[in-house]
Amino acid sequence: MNQHADLIAKAKQTLRDNDLGGYTIPTKGLYPFQWNWDAGITALGWLSIDEARAWEEMDKLFEGQWDNGMVPHIVFHEPSDQYFPGPEQWGVNHTPPTTSISQPPVLATVARLLFERAKDRQLAADRLAVQLPKLVAYHLWWYRERDPQQSGLVASYHPWESGMDNSPAWDEALARVPEVTRSYQRRDLGHVDSSQRPLKKEYDRFIYLVDFFREQDFDSLKIYANSPYKMQDVGLNAILQRGSDDLIALAEQLGYDDGIAELKQGRDRMAKAFAGLWLGDKHSFVCRDLVADKLVPVTTTGGMLALYGGLASDQQAQEMATLIDSWLERCPYGLSSTHPDEPCFDAKRYWRGPTWLHINWMIAVGLQSYGYTELAGRVRQASLNIIEKTGYWEYYDPNDGSGYGGPNFSWTAAISLFWLLED
Ligand code: DGY
Repeated sequence: MNQHADLIAKAKQTLRDNDLGGYTIPTKGLYPFQWNWDAGITALGWLSIDEARAWEEMDKLFEGQWDNGMVPHIVFHEPSDQYFPGPEQWGVNHTPPTTSISQPPVLATVARLLFERAKDRQLAADRLAVQLPKLVAYHLWWYRERDPQQSGLVASYHPWESGMDNSPAWDEALARVPEVTRSYQRRDLGHVDSSQRPLKKEYDRFIYLVDFFREQDFDSLKIYANSPYKMQDVGLNAILQRGSDDLIALAEQLGYDDGIAELKQGRDRMAKAFAGLWLGDKHSFVCRDLVADKLVPVTTTGGMLALYGGLASDQQAQEMATLIDSWLERCPYGLSSTHPDEPCFDAKRYWRGPTWLHINWMIAVGLQSYGYTELAGRVRQASLNIIEKTGYWEYYDPNDGSGYGGPNFSWTAAISLFWLLED
């Protein structure tokens, strides 16, 4: 019997409990809809339970895809009064309703993993034939609308678009965003202790941006020209690069051509431009604040995703591996989202220090692909330590493994099934 049989059963039960019929909510209460990158990671978990259900998770998310290719960060399949800001705040005219921003594009990489590992080959071929053009349109949207000057790096317009919503890497740029003047009521604090969630001064700016996008008619180019917040997020760009590589590989396997030449151009431009995000003093890649036109000198796990995107030189990879090695010494429960030496490190608060399992998975994949097998194994072991100790929370204290944020969390259960327990 598998030594982790109980954990496997619990992970499977977590996905089933959060399944609202074709899509999986991240956790009850706090996040009652379908989120973009959560759906991707969660599909990896469904793979070991029900392959058809894994593909369906993606199909359901694509119901929210815009005509211009954008896959939104939330699809509001069913109404809920548990969450703010809901569809009426975003003001998007789409059925089903959606937000107006996206999230780190893990979907293409997930599609490749689902396709290559599927036992039901016919189902996989059928589903991929439907999803591949949608994925290509999504990636081309990033290159076209979020890098209009073809710099090679795409811009994110909102901290939520990074998926690493509350990272200290956004602090300076977010402080420049005006505070919203209308009143509103947060719902997250009814579900999770305020010490683990963003501050009011941050929400005031998050909501300002939501209103701003609506006032700009969701026009990416207008927003690019006028937005008070515009970030070349290192993690998002690295995830896009890996996704594009995976899409190109899938298209080759299927003999699919449409849009692939353009996709390769975007991928090649990024391969050249990414070097501009390297900060030698930090031994890390970092973000660039496009409004202030400067690098943001904060070391986060987002920077380590350069390995996952295959975007580091061998020398840079070696420096990052040395950094990760000492980082892990400090964080026995997985790499903390912000490096513990950063003055803004906070072990409890959303993306300002806690550990996320799916990010640790991506870093382990990246380390492995650069040949750092032993170190990748240590990242994996640290993550295993967490779920053995604490189960499936949204995020964890990197020092003692305490679980924070939402409980019974889908992507944590899913990546555990895929990576830690069954891979
Ligand atoms: C939230 O509401 O905190 C979400 O993470 C935004 O995507």
